[in-house]
Amino acid sequence: MNKNIAIRRVRSVHRRAKPTDTRELGFGRYFSDHFFATEFDRTNGWNLTRIEPMRPLQIDAAAICLHYGQEVFEGLKAYRGKDNGIYLFRWRRNAARLRNSCSRLMMETVDEEFFGRAVKTLVLVDQDWIPNEPDCSLYIRPTIIATDPFLGVRAGDEYAFYIIVGPVGAYYPGGFNPIRIWVSDEDVRAVKGGLGEAKTAANYAHSLCAQQKATALGYSQVLWLDAIHHQWVEEVGTMNIFFRTKDEVITPPLAGTILPGVTRDSVITLCRHWGIPVQERPISIDEVIDRTASGELLECFGTGTAAVISPVGTLSYQGRETVINQHRTGELAQRLYDYLTRLQRGEEEDVFGWVERIDHQEIEELARWKE
Ligand SMILES: Cc1ncc(COP(=O)(O)O)c(C=O)c1O
Repeated sequence: MNKNIAIRRVRSVHRRAKPTDTRELGFGRYFSDHFFATEFDRTNGWNLTRIEPMRPLQIDAAAICLHYGQEVFEGLKAYRGKDNGIYLFRWRRNAARLRNSCSRLMMETVDEEFFGRAVKTLVLVDQDWIPNEPDCSLYIRPTIIATDPFLGVRAGDEYAFYIIVGPVGAYYPGGFNPIRIWVSDEDVRAVKGGLGEAKTAANYAHSLCAQQKATALGYSQVLWLDAIHHQWVEEVGTMNIFFRTKDEVITPPLAGTILPGVTRDSVITLCRHWGIPVQERPISIDEVIDRTASGELLECFGTGTAAVISPVGTLSYQGRETVINQHRTGELAQRLYDYLTRLQRGEEEDVFGWVERIDHQEIEELARWKE
């Protein structure tokens, strides 16, 4: 469909400042010299495909995305290996999820190969922005927005697909420590039939109110429960959630309200590969609290691209705190974190075919540069 589109490249003459100390990187604060962009209209399809110096976007103040929220995005990372290679992890999953999000929001989408070429060429152009330090990476944010200048609720006919990238630091500058979580029993993240499984801005805007309550009470993130019974565990902040008992691992099923995380799928596959049974089944907050009290629930952790694995040490529900595994990192969380972070940098045997080392020559050819 959009396989053969050439990517025009305009090199930036200005080099943006990079922090010299990677401890200052944080997350989402720095952006590289260039961005990828392409535009869609019904006559030309995707066109004006280019990589150009990072700059503010020019869109009409009446653009549909700004008023009615037709916007979807993705989040993935490029890693610098010890062998100096550049690695991507399961990017096809992000391409597929972007397509699903587009379909949910009635938006024009891009095919997998085009997505891959766009990501890889931009990463190559700005490869000196990939930090070398362990635990640091280049965060990649592909985004599609409806750009027609039109006030009225309808699906757009014009779209922009753009990708920005920026270096991000270690998610745990102070070490791999469990987090404190506040269980929201009033605000909900998503409802069946809603937008929960799409990666779209509305879900995140909607989460801010509960997040503010959690922060004010001294907790770092919100644990979301289902919208009807306020009982069934769904996600934690912007991560999927897992529990481990002596015999198995449990994670809520993908039933429309939960984002299908790439890390979630990787953790399920890895656990099964290691001989640890995984159940994708509804788990209630009462079960979590009761089985923690009885000593059956041994660990809890969140999974997501940003943190990879984030152990949960304390849950606050209706004013009472439940401490899991004495607020220490569990052995499975640590094992998964170590394995995945090494695999993502090409330091583990890639048994599942999840890791792609970017081949410079192939990409130069694929890009069909028009300088
Ligand atoms: C709401 C939500 N859930 C789960 C995840 C984890 O998904 P992934 O593992 O693909 O990063 C994310 C992050 O993208 C998220 O925003």
